[in-house]
Amino acid sequence: MRGQSATIAAVVNAVREDRLWQHLMEIATIGATGRGGVNRQALTPEDAKARKRLLMWAAPRGFSASVDAIGNVFIRRPGQDATASPVLAGSHLDTQPTGGNFDGIYGVLAAFEVLEAASDAGVVTQRPLEAVVWTNEEGSRFQPTTMGSAVFAGALPLETALATTDTAGISVASALAETLQDLAIPQQRAFRFPIAAYLEAHIEQGPILEAAQQTIGIVSGIQGLRWFRIEVTGEEAHAGTTPRRIRKDAFVTAIRMVTALQELMYDEADTVRFTVGRFEVTPNSPNTVPSRVLFTIDLRHPDAAILIRLGDQIEPMCRAQAHGCGVSVVETLNSPPIAFDPAIRDLLRKAAAHHALPHMDIVSGATHDAKYMVDLCPSGMLFVPCRGGISHNEAEYAAPSDLAAGAKTLAEVMLELASNHP
Ligand code: GLV
Ligand code: MN
Ligand code: MN
Repeated sequence: MRGQSATIAAVVNAVREDRLWQHLMEIATIGATGRGGVNRQALTPEDAKARKRLLMWAAPRGFSASVDAIGNVFIRRPGQDATASPVLAGSHLDTQPTGGNFDGIYGVLAAFEVLEAASDAGVVTQRPLEAVVWTNEEGSRFQPTTMGSAVFAGALPLETALATTDTAGISVASALAETLQDLAIPQQRAFRFPIAAYLEAHIEQGPILEAAQQTIGIVSGIQGLRWFRIEVTGEEAHAGTTPRRIRKDAFVTAIRMVTALQELMYDEADTVRFTVGRFEVTPNSPNTVPSRVLFTIDLRHPDAAILIRLGDQIEPMCRAQAHGCGVSVVETLNSPPIAFDPAIRDLLRKAAAHHALPHMDIVSGATHDAKYMVDLCPSGMLFVPCRGGISHNEAEYAAPSDLAAGAKTLAEVMLELASNHP
């Protein structure tokens, strides 16, 4: 019988850069925009198709699939002990409307690559190994972001998630029903089933690793995030006949609010992240004074106290700028900064060092499903560099060798955790 370190080495060696890249490029064809990126938003037919492609690869391997009530999909490679909790790793397959080919997809396919490598190496782990596809991580079609993992972890009620609608009025409930019908996975999974450990591999989505010429980022934590939905209500009026002093122009009012907020959020150190990503004007006609504007705020900071202080000023500041218009401010997400498990970070660091991969500690500026897993089990993340730090952009790119290095590091840690039975 092989010792544990030989077993782990066999799996790490069986991780294949070419296969991982091929899988990434195949998923990249689903929802491809023709400009190098993808539009595969959550719970669309394209999202279902990408998940089905993964199921298609899993079946001949003898991996089983299960799905929970928010559509999170789990692919399982059994271990020796069927009663042991699995070592879980994954991310998401949904994308931004102008998304890249790596954000999220890499984490799912790297986890799947570990399952395949374990099979190719003929290794039997004590614990099952599982790859997960979380539903609606991006939050571009349905808000908030990281919906599937939030519901799984009990941080967001299922009913609230199901009732959420997109801009066309389609609910998560109805889009999910179609996706589930399409996937046709008979095995149901409960929320919050016992998990031994959770890992997520991801492209960095920022410029730090590339600039420092490091291959692996050991993620220490994720900065905090608050989302707001602001609706400004004015009054439609004729653009040619209505004097300025009697207008209730929702657009001009919203611009005033955004300008005031932009000033409030300014910090010399450039640590605050403040984004107005959606701005909808109604009726959006050249010769009618706008009666309604809906805009969103994405506010992030690594310091919990600063995030609270800044976020809590948004509503009063909008009200102060409303003048004659109505304003409603709804907070749709409040997610404080989190820290990953020191023992998992240590394992990741050791694995990177073991394979002579340059590595450094890094804080995640982007949010990830892993943030909800910290409450359920020891959790951690690793990053690999992406070109120019570009992400949420069709030009997103990561080198095949870096992606494979991350998958090998992931394999080492997953195997370590899966072989150590309770
Ligand atoms: C995830 O896509 C995020 O917004 O950080
Ligand atoms: Mn992501
Ligand atoms: Mn993203």
